This record gives sequence, structure tokens and C-alpha cells, in this order.
Amino acid sequence: MAEILAVASGKGGVGKSFFSSNISMSLKFAGNDVLLVDADLGGANTHDFIGLKVPGLGLYEFLKDKVDINNVITKSPAGIDFIGGSSDVLGMAHITNFEKLKVLNKLKKLDYKYVFLDLGAGTSFNTVDFFNFADKKIMLMNAEPTSLENSYGFLKVALYRKIELHLRKFREMSDICKKLHSKSMQFPNISSIYTEIGVVNTKILEEVQEIVDSYKVGIVLNVIRTRKELNVFYGFESVTKKYLGIDIEKLGFMPYDISVSESIKLMKPFYLNNLKSDVSRCLDDIRSHILTKL
Ligand SMILES: Nc1ncnc2c1ncn2[C@@H]1O[C@H](COP(=O)(O)OP(=O)(O)OP(=O)(O)O)[C@@H](O)[C@H]1O
Ligand SMILES: [Mg+2]
Repeated sequence: MAEILAVASGKGGVGKSFFSSNISMSLKFAGNDVLLVDADLGGANTHDFIGLKVPGLGLYEFLKDKVDINNVITKSPAGIDFIGGSSDVLGMAHITNFEKLKVLNKLKKLDYKYVFLDLGAGTSFNTVDFFNFADKKIMLMNAEPTSLENSYGFLKVALYRKIELHLRKFREMSDICKKLHSKSMQFPNISSIYTEIGVVNTKILEEVQEIVDSYKVGIVLNVIRTRKELNVFYGFESVTKKYLGIDIEKLGFMPYDISVSESIKLMKPFYLNNLKSDVSRCLDDIRSHILTKL
């Protein structure tokens, strides 16, 4: 059984695709079979990071055209196998939960050790559900306040969605479900949700507390320019614990490096062409933290 790892971010352009493709190369280089999936349903560009000129077939063809999963897998010059993304936003906007689970169950049964999902930015239910259904959840952010705010917002939507999907099983929870579903965020924090559930049913409250306690998210900081910026980890950790009740795992960081964008422009897989760079060393550290901490 493959392990599914999802890479998300609250804000776009923080380095999800760069990270997912290069951490895949690091894992492959260490001897693991890895499949990388462009799950950015609408903004497919992961192929650029692994030396492929075109995305090839992808999840759209698997789900909508019923192409066999093995026939949408491409070999890439970066040595990792790849499933391309779809730029057909409308076609993929309405995939059901059943279809999402179908994709994940299929991917899990493939003969890889790790499957990385490079998700789109933001809080669409597609993105959030893939994130929640994954075995390991990783979030990319940078040290800017906007990235912090959006990352917190993303985790809030994802956690509330996870709770909502659990509560949907109980008729007596339908009002709370409606409030959780609304993106206006009627619950300011996790304790306000606990209070409302506890009034209705204490057993369900315990189940939800268990879901929250076991909700683990790994954080990677990108484009770091000074050691001081790493303090962002601690601020973020205390806010997510206080208001959402969840623990984050600090997986590591990647420094800013001008040769990252140069290699992307040349469509050269960064990690393989810069094995001795600081960014690649950091990717190796993050790799080992993913395996031991998450
Ligand atoms: N460590 C880094 N150093 C320098 N530049 C970087 C680094 N990481 C990413 N970049 C730059 O940031 C750009 C955006 O990265 P990337 O496409 O991976 O972000 P993304 O989060 O996947 O974006 P989107 O939300 O649009 O999918 C890259 O093209 C690259 O030029
Ligand atoms: Mg991307």
C-alpha cells in the first residue's frame, strides 16, 4: 500500500509545486519508488518542475474519460513517475466525495512507497478534501504575515470540514453541520464548537475531540532569507494550538535561492542538478523529518 502525502498552502505561489517535485526526487534518490500527482485541478504546472514539456494525461482522463490509472502515469526525466494535472477547471470543479475517494483508493493500491499530491492553493472543497483524506498532511508557507494568515485560514477550513463530515452522520447535529459548512466561519475557535456539540451529545463530543487530537499537520517554511524568519514557526504553533487545538510538526525550511527560478526557466529538475546546494540539503532534512515526525 502506498502512503499518500498531500502538499497544500493557504496562499498561492509559496512553492508547493517546487517542494512536491523536489522532495519526490529526494525520496527517489534515497531509493524509494515515488509517484507525483498534479492535483491542482485548474492550474496544472507541476510537469515544469520535473523536466516534462507537457502535462500528459491526468486525473481528469482517469475520472471523466475512465482511462486506466496505469495509462495516465508518465515517466519523467527527474526519475519519478508522474500523473499530470488538468486545466479544465469546470470539468473538475464538480467531482464528488465518492470520486475523490476513488482516486485516493486507486493511488493507494499502486506499487509505490510514496504518492505526493501537489494541491492547488486555497480552500476549495476539492483541495481541502484531498488534504484531509491524505495519510500525511504538509503545508507550505513563507514568513510573510499574509502567508501566515492564509495558512491559519486554510487549516481552520480543513479542520472544520473534517468535523462537519463526521457530524453529518448524526441527524441531531444537522444545525451545527450547517454552521460548520458556511464559509462565514460562525465558530471563532474550536472550543466554541466543542461547547455546542457538548450541549447536544457528549459521546459525539468525545469523538470530535479525538479527531482534533489526532489531526497532525507538518509545516515547511520556504524562501527563508534570515534565521530570524524561522521564529514564524513558534508563533504559528501557538496560534493553531490555542484556537484550533491542533499540533503542528515543524518539518524544516528551504532558503531563498536564485538558482531555483533559473532551473525552472530551463525546465531542469532542481534537486538532481544541484545536489550540493543548501536547498537540496534542507530537502533531505525535511525528508527524514517527514518519515520520523509525521
Ligand atoms: N526556495 C526558493 N528560492 C527561490 N525561489 C523559489 C523557491 N521556492 C519557490 N520559488 C519560486 O517561486 C515560484 C512559485 O513556486 P511554485 O510554483 O512551486 O508555487 P506554488 O505554491 O505551487 O504556486 P501555485 O499556488 O500557483 O500552484 C517558483 O516559480 C520559483 O521561481
Ligand atoms: Mg503549484
